[in-house]
Amino acid sequence: MSSDKVPEAVSAVEVENVLMARVYDNISAIYDLAFGPVMQAGRRRAVAVMGDTAGQRILEVGVGTGLNLPLYQAGTDVTGIDFSSQMLDQAEARVAREGLRPRLFQMDAADLRFADDSFDIVYAPYLISVVPDPLKVLREMRRVCRPGGRLLVLNHFRSTHPVLSRLEQGISPLTVRIGFKADVDMTALFEQAALVPDWTEKVNRPRIWTLAHYTCPRQPE
Ligand SMILES: C[S@@+](CC[C@H](N)C(=O)[O-])C[C@H]1O[C@@H](n2cnc3c(N)ncnc32)[C@H](O)[C@@H]1O
Repeated sequence: MSSDKVPEAVSAVEVENVLMARVYDNISAIYDLAFGPVMQAGRRRAVAVMGDTAGQRILEVGVGTGLNLPLYQAGTDVTGIDFSSQMLDQAEARVAREGLRPRLFQMDAADLRFADDSFDIVYAPYLISVVPDPLKVLREMRRVCRPGGRLLVLNHFRSTHPVLSRLEQGISPLTVRIGFKADVDMTALFEQAALVPDWTEKVNRPRIWTLAHYTCPRQPE
């Protein structure tokens, strides 16, 4: 299936990379204050779920200001990518300040410049609802993840409660202007991407964010 147009079942809101990059460039200096503590429990949970990662190659897709970077176990081989140069500047500053050693690149999550099967864990924290084509991004994540490796997606998805779902669909054309789509449907997204998560769990408070875990098959599908 072509990913040029995201199926409406996944999200009805269209967004472009340049718009999102501008939004995140503009809020980069206050991002940690606005979105740090409120979403930190989910970040901690995702890294805890990874377990012992010493020597493992992790790709963080949408690394932002690098709030996850200090959480990884020492000895983890971390690569982070982001589309916004100013978010990456903040991440570089954190790396220098905290003596961390990830590789950071400016890159589009929908067009990862890495070979197939390059990483043991591919992790997208709070990214899927900010990209133009979440399906394309999931497929790219899957492509660069080695057989037997793991994908972790941490994100806000549309509620399954009918009233809240309507509300999120209604406000999504507005929330996109401040950096995220509120209407991304997790079930439709994973179905379209032909990925069946091993498990999902609710994280943060209120529990409106989800952590989804998927193991890449060892044999070709
Ligand atoms: C909500 S922030 C999450 C940042 C970080 N992962 C965290 O835990 O706070 C979303 C990030 O995705 C980045 N982003 C948006 N579109 C992108 C794209 N197409 N490719 C890569 N990064 C993108 C934004 O620049 C921003 O840094």
